[in-house]
Amino acid sequence: MSRTVYVNGEYLPEEDAKISIFDRSFLMADGVYEVTSVLGRKLIDFDGHLARLERSLTELDMQKPEAFDDLLAIHRKLVELNDIEDGMIYLQVSRGSAGDRDFVFPDSDVVKPTLVLFTQSKPGLADSPAARAGIKVISIDDIRWGRRDIKTVQLLYPSMGKMAAKKAGCDDAWMVEDGFVTEGTSNNAYIVKNGKIITRQLSNDILHGITRAAVLRFAREAQMEVEERPFTIEEAKAADEGFVTSASTFVFPVVEIDGVKLGDGTPGPVAKRLREIYLEESLKSAI
Ligand code: PDD
Repeated sequence: MSRTVYVNGEYLPEEDAKISIFDRSFLMADGVYEVTSVLGRKLIDFDGHLARLERSLTELDMQKPEAFDDLLAIHRKLVELNDIEDGMIYLQVSRGSAGDRDFVFPDSDVVKPTLVLFTQSKPGLADSPAARAGIKVISIDDIRWGRRDIKTVQLLYPSMGKMAAKKAGCDDAWMVEDGFVTEGTSNNAYIVKNGKIITRQLSNDILHGITRAAVLRFAREAQMEVEERPFTIEEAKAADEGFVTSASTFVFPVVEIDGVKLGDGTPGPVAKRLREIYLEESLKSAI
Protein backbone atom coordinates (compact mmCIF):
# COMPACT_ATOMS: atom_id res chain seq x y z
CA MET A 1 0.00 0.00 0.00
CA SER A 2 1.27 3.45 -0.86
CA ARG A 3 2.38 5.61 2.06
CA THR A 4 1.65 9.26 2.52
CA VAL A 5 4.96 11.06 2.92
CA TYR A 6 5.92 14.65 3.68
CA VAL A 7 8.04 16.76 1.32
CA ASN A 8 8.63 20.47 1.92
CA GLY A 9 5.23 21.33 3.32
CA GLU A 10 3.13 18.83 1.36
CA TYR A 11 1.62 15.47 2.27
CA LEU A 12 1.77 13.30 -0.86
CA PRO A 13 1.42 9.68 -1.99
CA GLU A 14 4.99 8.29 -2.04
CA GLU A 15 4.95 7.84 -5.82
CA ASP A 16 4.25 11.55 -6.31
CA ALA A 17 6.93 12.77 -3.90
CA LYS A 18 9.90 14.33 -5.69
CA ILE A 19 13.10 16.19 -4.92
CA SER A 20 15.65 17.62 -7.38
CA ILE A 21 18.50 15.53 -8.79
CA PHE A 22 20.64 18.52 -7.73
CA ASP A 23 19.68 18.11 -4.09
CA ARG A 24 22.89 18.26 -2.05
CA SER A 25 21.97 15.18 -0.02
CA PHE A 26 21.97 13.21 -3.28
CA LEU A 27 25.17 14.72 -4.71
CA MET A 28 27.26 15.42 -1.58
CA ALA A 29 25.60 13.50 1.31
CA ASP A 30 25.02 17.05 2.58
CA GLY A 31 22.10 16.13 4.80
CA VAL A 32 21.24 15.04 8.31
CA TYR A 33 18.56 12.72 9.59
CA GLU A 34 16.70 11.35 12.59
CA VAL A 35 14.80 8.13 13.20
CA THR A 36 12.09 8.25 15.86
CA SER A 37 10.24 5.12 16.89
CA VAL A 38 6.49 4.83 17.29
CA LEU A 39 4.96 2.46 19.85
CA GLY A 40 1.21 2.29 20.37
CA ARG A 41 0.85 5.27 17.97
CA LYS A 42 3.05 7.44 20.20
CA LEU A 43 6.51 8.91 19.62
CA ILE A 44 9.39 7.68 21.76
CA ASP A 45 12.00 10.24 22.94
CA PHE A 46 10.77 12.85 20.44
CA ASP A 47 12.31 15.81 22.29
CA GLY A 48 15.73 14.14 22.32
CA HIS A 49 15.62 13.51 18.57
CA LEU A 50 14.53 17.09 17.88
CA ALA A 51 17.33 18.47 20.05
CA ARG A 52 19.91 16.32 18.28
CA LEU A 53 18.55 17.38 14.87
CA GLU A 54 19.02 21.01 15.85
CA ARG A 55 22.57 20.25 16.99
CA SER A 56 23.42 18.43 13.73
CA LEU A 57 22.13 21.40 11.71
CA THR A 58 24.12 23.88 13.80
CA GLU A 59 27.34 21.84 13.53
CA LEU A 60 27.05 21.83 9.73
CA ASP A 61 26.00 25.47 9.51
CA MET A 62 22.79 24.33 7.85
CA GLN A 63 19.59 26.35 8.14
CA LYS A 64 16.65 24.99 10.07
CA PRO A 65 13.79 24.07 7.74
CA GLU A 66 10.93 26.55 7.89
CA ALA A 67 8.67 23.88 9.39
CA PHE A 68 11.08 23.12 12.28
CA ASP A 69 8.61 24.22 14.96
CA ASP A 70 5.86 22.10 13.36
CA LEU A 71 7.86 18.85 13.40
CA LEU A 72 5.90 17.28 16.25
CA ALA A 73 2.63 17.98 14.46
CA ILE A 74 4.05 16.62 11.18
CA HIS A 75 5.22 13.41 12.90
CA ARG A 76 1.80 12.96 14.48
CA LYS A 77 -0.01 13.61 11.23
CA LEU A 78 2.10 11.00 9.42
CA VAL A 79 1.34 8.46 12.16
CA GLU A 80 -2.35 9.17 11.69
CA LEU A 81 -2.40 9.28 7.87
CA ASN A 82 -0.46 6.03 7.60
CA ASP A 83 -2.20 4.31 10.50
CA ILE A 84 1.10 3.48 12.23
CA GLU A 85 0.61 1.45 15.39
CA ASP A 86 4.31 0.55 15.77
CA GLY A 87 7.19 1.57 13.54
CA MET A 88 9.54 4.40 12.76
CA ILE A 89 9.47 7.87 11.32
CA TYR A 90 12.44 8.84 9.18
CA LEU A 91 13.22 12.55 8.85
CA GLN A 92 15.86 14.07 6.58
CA VAL A 93 16.99 17.65 6.14
CA SER A 94 19.40 18.54 3.36
CA ARG A 95 21.03 21.81 2.37
CA GLY A 96 18.66 21.88 -0.58
CA SER A 97 19.21 22.22 -4.30
CA ALA A 98 21.07 25.08 -5.97
CA GLY A 99 20.06 23.72 -9.39
CA ASP A 100 23.60 22.57 -10.23
CA ARG A 101 26.58 20.72 -8.72
CA ASP A 102 29.07 22.81 -6.75
CA PHE A 103 31.26 22.00 -3.73
CA VAL A 104 30.64 25.49 -2.34
CA PHE A 105 27.56 25.77 -0.13
CA PRO A 106 24.75 27.71 -1.80
CA ASP A 107 23.61 31.04 -0.34
CA SER A 108 21.19 30.07 2.42
CA ASP A 109 19.09 33.19 1.76
CA VAL A 110 18.35 31.82 -1.70
CA VAL A 111 18.49 28.03 -1.37
CA LYS A 112 16.22 26.60 1.31
CA PRO A 113 16.70 23.22 3.01
CA THR A 114 14.82 20.18 1.78
CA LEU A 115 12.70 18.46 4.44
CA VAL A 116 11.44 14.92 3.89
CA LEU A 117 9.67 12.57 6.30
CA PHE A 118 8.25 9.10 5.80
CA THR A 119 6.91 6.30 7.98
CA GLN A 120 7.98 2.66 8.26
CA SER A 121 5.32 0.38 9.68
CA LYS A 122 6.74 -2.37 11.95
CA PRO A 123 3.93 -4.12 13.79
CA GLY A 124 5.24 -5.66 17.02
CA LEU A 125 8.43 -3.55 16.92
CA ALA A 126 8.97 -3.93 20.67
CA ASP A 127 8.70 -7.71 20.50
CA SER A 128 11.25 -8.69 17.85
CA PRO A 129 12.86 -12.16 17.76
CA ALA A 130 16.33 -10.53 17.95
CA ALA A 131 15.45 -9.06 21.33
CA ARG A 132 14.76 -12.57 22.64
CA ALA A 133 17.59 -14.45 20.94
CA GLY A 134 20.23 -11.71 20.93
CA ILE A 135 22.40 -10.75 17.97
CA LYS A 136 25.78 -11.87 16.69
CA VAL A 137 28.31 -9.24 15.64
CA ILE A 138 31.59 -9.16 13.77
CA SER A 139 34.29 -6.54 14.23
CA ILE A 140 35.45 -4.29 11.40
CA ASP A 141 37.82 -1.33 11.17
CA ASP A 142 36.18 2.03 11.75
CA ILE A 143 37.19 4.05 8.70
CA ARG A 144 34.46 6.69 8.95
CA TRP A 145 35.12 10.43 9.07
CA GLY A 146 35.95 12.29 12.30
CA ARG A 147 32.53 13.85 13.04
CA ARG A 148 30.44 10.80 13.86
CA ASP A 149 28.59 12.89 16.45
CA ILE A 150 26.73 14.56 13.58
CA LYS A 151 23.93 12.36 12.25
CA THR A 152 24.67 12.74 8.54
CA VAL A 153 23.31 10.64 5.69
CA GLN A 154 26.83 9.41 4.77
CA LEU A 155 25.92 5.81 5.53
CA LEU A 156 27.83 3.87 2.88
CA TYR A 157 30.42 2.44 5.25
CA PRO A 158 27.89 1.42 7.93
CA SER A 159 25.86 -0.17 5.14
CA MET A 160 28.96 -2.08 3.94
CA GLY A 161 29.58 -3.17 7.53
CA LYS A 162 26.06 -4.54 7.80
CA MET A 163 26.58 -6.46 4.52
CA ALA A 164 29.91 -7.89 5.75
CA ALA A 165 28.11 -9.07 8.90
CA LYS A 166 25.35 -10.64 6.84
CA LYS A 167 27.89 -12.43 4.65
CA ALA A 168 29.52 -13.83 7.80
CA GLY A 169 26.14 -15.15 9.00
CA CYS A 170 25.87 -12.41 11.64
CA ASP A 171 23.52 -9.54 12.35
CA ASP A 172 25.72 -6.49 12.72
CA ALA A 173 29.25 -5.14 12.98
CA TRP A 174 31.04 -3.30 15.78
CA MET A 175 33.56 -0.81 14.50
CA VAL A 176 37.04 -0.71 16.00
CA GLU A 177 39.54 2.14 15.96
CA ASP A 178 43.05 1.82 17.47
CA GLY A 179 41.89 -1.44 19.09
CA PHE A 180 38.90 0.18 20.81
CA VAL A 181 35.24 -0.30 19.90
CA THR A 182 33.59 2.93 18.75
CA GLU A 183 30.00 1.79 18.10
CA GLY A 184 27.80 -0.50 16.02
CA THR A 185 26.95 0.34 12.40
CA SER A 186 23.64 1.88 13.52
CA ASN A 187 23.68 1.63 17.31
CA ASN A 188 25.76 2.29 20.42
CA ALA A 189 27.78 -0.61 21.89
CA TYR A 190 28.08 -1.80 25.50
CA ILE A 191 29.63 -4.63 27.46
CA VAL A 192 28.90 -5.87 30.97
CA LYS A 193 31.59 -7.24 33.28
CA ASN A 194 30.92 -8.27 36.89
CA GLY A 195 27.61 -6.38 36.76
CA LYS A 196 29.21 -3.14 35.54
CA ILE A 197 27.97 -1.56 32.30
CA ILE A 198 30.83 -0.24 30.18
CA THR A 199 30.33 1.99 27.13
CA ARG A 200 32.48 4.48 25.28
CA GLN A 201 32.21 8.07 26.54
CA LEU A 202 30.67 10.75 24.31
CA SER A 203 33.00 12.56 21.88
CA ASN A 204 33.15 13.25 18.15
CA ASP A 205 34.02 9.54 17.70
CA ILE A 206 30.47 8.27 18.17
CA LEU A 207 26.87 9.31 17.68
CA HIS A 208 25.35 10.65 20.88
CA GLY A 209 22.53 8.12 20.95
CA ILE A 210 19.20 9.31 22.28
CA THR A 211 18.44 5.77 23.44
CA ARG A 212 21.93 5.62 25.03
CA ALA A 213 21.20 8.71 27.13
CA ALA A 214 17.90 7.27 28.35
CA VAL A 215 19.25 3.77 29.02
CA LEU A 216 22.22 5.08 31.03
CA ARG A 217 19.90 7.32 33.04
CA PHE A 218 17.58 4.41 33.81
CA ALA A 219 20.54 2.16 34.66
CA ARG A 220 21.89 4.69 37.18
CA GLU A 221 18.42 5.22 38.66
CA ALA A 222 18.20 1.43 39.14
CA GLN A 223 21.55 1.58 41.05
CA MET A 224 23.43 -0.25 38.29
CA GLU A 225 27.09 0.65 37.94
CA VAL A 226 28.00 2.48 34.71
CA GLU A 227 31.49 3.29 33.45
CA GLU A 228 31.87 5.49 30.37
CA ARG A 229 35.25 4.64 28.84
CA PRO A 230 36.64 2.98 25.72
CA PHE A 231 36.90 -0.83 25.73
CA THR A 232 38.91 -3.04 23.41
CA ILE A 233 37.46 -5.74 21.21
CA GLU A 234 39.42 -8.31 23.28
CA GLU A 235 37.84 -7.00 26.48
CA ALA A 236 34.45 -7.26 24.78
CA LYS A 237 35.03 -10.90 23.83
CA ALA A 238 35.88 -11.68 27.48
CA ALA A 239 32.81 -9.81 28.82
CA ASP A 240 29.90 -11.48 30.60
CA GLU A 241 27.42 -9.91 28.20
CA GLY A 242 27.01 -7.25 25.57
CA PHE A 243 24.22 -5.17 24.10
CA VAL A 244 23.42 -2.37 21.66
CA THR A 245 20.93 0.49 21.81
CA SER A 246 19.17 2.54 19.13
CA ALA A 247 15.80 4.08 18.38
CA SER A 248 14.82 1.17 16.15
CA THR A 249 16.10 -1.71 18.32
CA PHE A 250 15.75 -0.17 21.84
CA VAL A 251 18.07 -2.66 23.58
CA PHE A 252 19.28 -5.81 21.78
CA PRO A 253 21.49 -8.28 23.65
CA VAL A 254 24.74 -9.23 21.89
CA VAL A 255 25.52 -12.92 22.35
CA GLU A 256 28.55 -13.43 20.09
CA ILE A 257 31.49 -11.35 18.81
CA ASP A 258 33.67 -12.69 15.95
CA GLY A 259 32.44 -16.21 16.73
CA VAL A 260 33.26 -15.92 20.46
CA LYS A 261 30.27 -16.49 22.73
CA LEU A 262 29.68 -13.95 25.51
CA GLY A 263 28.95 -15.75 28.78
CA ASP A 264 26.85 -18.80 27.94
CA GLY A 265 25.92 -17.38 24.53
CA THR A 266 22.40 -16.34 25.50
CA PRO A 267 21.03 -12.85 26.33
CA GLY A 268 22.40 -11.65 29.66
CA PRO A 269 20.35 -10.44 32.65
CA VAL A 270 21.56 -6.81 32.52
CA ALA A 271 20.57 -6.38 28.86
CA LYS A 272 17.20 -8.03 29.47
CA ARG A 273 16.50 -5.86 32.51
CA LEU A 274 17.55 -2.65 30.72
CA ARG A 275 15.32 -3.48 27.78
CA GLU A 276 12.36 -3.95 30.13
CA ILE A 277 13.05 -0.72 32.00
CA TYR A 278 13.65 1.27 28.81
CA LEU A 279 10.41 0.10 27.19
CA GLU A 280 8.38 0.63 30.34
CA GLU A 281 9.74 4.11 31.09
CA SER A 282 9.83 5.43 27.54
CA LEU A 283 6.25 4.28 26.91
CA LYS A 284 5.22 6.29 29.97
CA SER A 285 6.76 9.46 28.54
CA ALA A 286 5.83 8.79 24.88
CA ILE A 287 3.90 11.62 23.24
N1 PDD B 1 20.81 4.78 13.95
N2 PDD B 1 25.25 5.07 16.44
C1 PDD B 1 24.99 5.13 15.12
C2 PDD B 1 26.11 5.09 14.17
C3 PDD B 1 23.66 5.20 14.67
O1 PDD B 1 23.39 5.26 13.35
C4 PDD B 1 22.59 5.19 15.61
C5 PDD B 1 21.15 5.29 15.20
C6 PDD B 1 22.92 5.12 16.99
C7 PDD B 1 21.87 5.14 18.06
O2 PDD B 1 21.26 6.39 18.20
P1 PDD B 1 19.76 6.55 18.71
O3 PDD B 1 19.69 5.83 20.01
O4 PDD B 1 19.58 8.00 18.85
O5 PDD B 1 18.87 5.92 17.67
C8 PDD B 1 24.25 5.08 17.36
C9 PDD B 1 19.47 4.92 13.46
C10 PDD B 1 18.46 4.18 14.26
C11 PDD B 1 19.43 4.57 11.97
O6 PDD B 1 20.37 4.98 11.30
O7 PDD B 1 18.49 3.94 11.50
